[in-house]
Amino acid sequence: MSDKQIKNLLVTGGCGFIGSNFIRYLLEESSFSGRIINVDKLTYAGNPESLSDIMAMHGSRCSFEKLDICDLPGLERVFSDYSVDGVAHFAAESHVDRSIASPGVFIDTNIRGTFNLLECARKAGDQFKLFHHVSTDEVYGTLGKSGYFTEATPYSPNSPYAASKAASDHLVRACHKTYGLPVTISNCSNNYGPFQFPEKLIPLMVLNAMEGKPLPVYGDGSNVRDWLYVRDHCIGIWTIMERGTPGRTYNIGGGCEMENLAIVGKICDIIDNAGKKAPGVSSSRDLITFVKDRPGHDFRYAIDCSRINQELGWRPQESLETGLEKSVLWYFDNMEWVRRIRTGDYLNWIETHYG
Ligand code: NAD
Ligand code: TYD
Repeated sequence: MSDKQIKNLLVTGGCGFIGSNFIRYLLEESSFSGRIINVDKLTYAGNPESLSDIMAMHGSRCSFEKLDICDLPGLERVFSDYSVDGVAHFAAESHVDRSIASPGVFIDTNIRGTFNLLECARKAGDQFKLFHHVSTDEVYGTLGKSGYFTEATPYSPNSPYAASKAASDHLVRACHKTYGLPVTISNCSNNYGPFQFPEKLIPLMVLNAMEGKPLPVYGDGSNVRDWLYVRDHCIGIWTIMERGTPGRTYNIGGGCEMENLAIVGKICDIIDNAGKKAPGVSSSRDLITFVKDRPGHDFRYAIDCSRINQELGWRPQESLETGLEKSVLWYFDNMEWVRRIRTGDYLNWIETHYG
């Protein structure tokens, strides 16, 4: 590893979907040999049970702090207690539909929270090695039927979520330019895979289909997303953290574009072929229901990954076929995790483990 070798890495949002997969990847597969401090507020989307097996195996290398990143004194204590010298920043309010209904918390967490972390990193001085900011391709707005987002695409966010992430990206970049803080930023396309909260398209459709509920497709289902298996995203982030150039942004995408209606159909087929369709349903596709479109719904996202591919050698390993099959099977096998995150039952587990 380079001169960026981090000893005490603060991972924010490590109990969420991508953050928990990242901690899993770091501890089980990567070259990282330091310690992880997982800071998470445990909103509805955060579940420490997603890491319970990892904590049992690698608990001596991973601490957990239940903390809101909007709590600056709390963050300052964590930076000092653990001599934090690196940050991988995942914590965010992440769901577009929620940002339309209640944008305020997106401003607090995604903008103020990111600012607080940058302040702590800046004050950590010369021993601080790297602040990696995990962001989204949604900052670029929407594409038409052709073209790709590159790192030079102008920002044009359309939802409160995308706007809050865009603001946080600008703060990170400004801290590099103004204070020389070593930062990297990644802007990634839609992720899917194990431990995704069942509000996002893929897990929502899997669970609704298994339960014989309607599969709500917004508009006519022709919107396109570029799907990336979460482990590939985690490898991309770690590759940037190890070998990326400070101050630089890297786009990460799956190279797997698909219309929403087509991906919902594929999910239905996997469920039916696995014998998991709901009782009384002859084909899960019959459950597809077209509903009112999302306001400001971006038509298409697609990522040009040339930079991370050519400069750092990263490319996704999983195809949409293999990744989707794995993900749907994961939900079949983890219905207890689903039940507990849906009902908030895991809060009892938190009481027992973290008091
Ligand atoms: P998630 O909603 O599954 O998890 C977010 C985590 O952050 C949760 O554990 C939650 O408890 C925690 N959190 C929220 N507010 C907090 C606060 N104020 N203080 C501390 N912790 C807080 O999100 P995700 O899908 O894992 O996304 C992680 C990051 O990746 C986000 O920054 C998101 O913008 C970005 N991203 C996500 C996708 C995607 O498809 N999911 C794609 C590109 C980028
Ligand atoms: P989502 O998973 O919410 O991710 P994002 O909005 O960040 O891309 O949605 C993915 C796509 O699926 C998006 O075009 C909206 C659409 N969608 C539906 O059609 N129905 C749904 O119930 C959901 C949650 C999303």
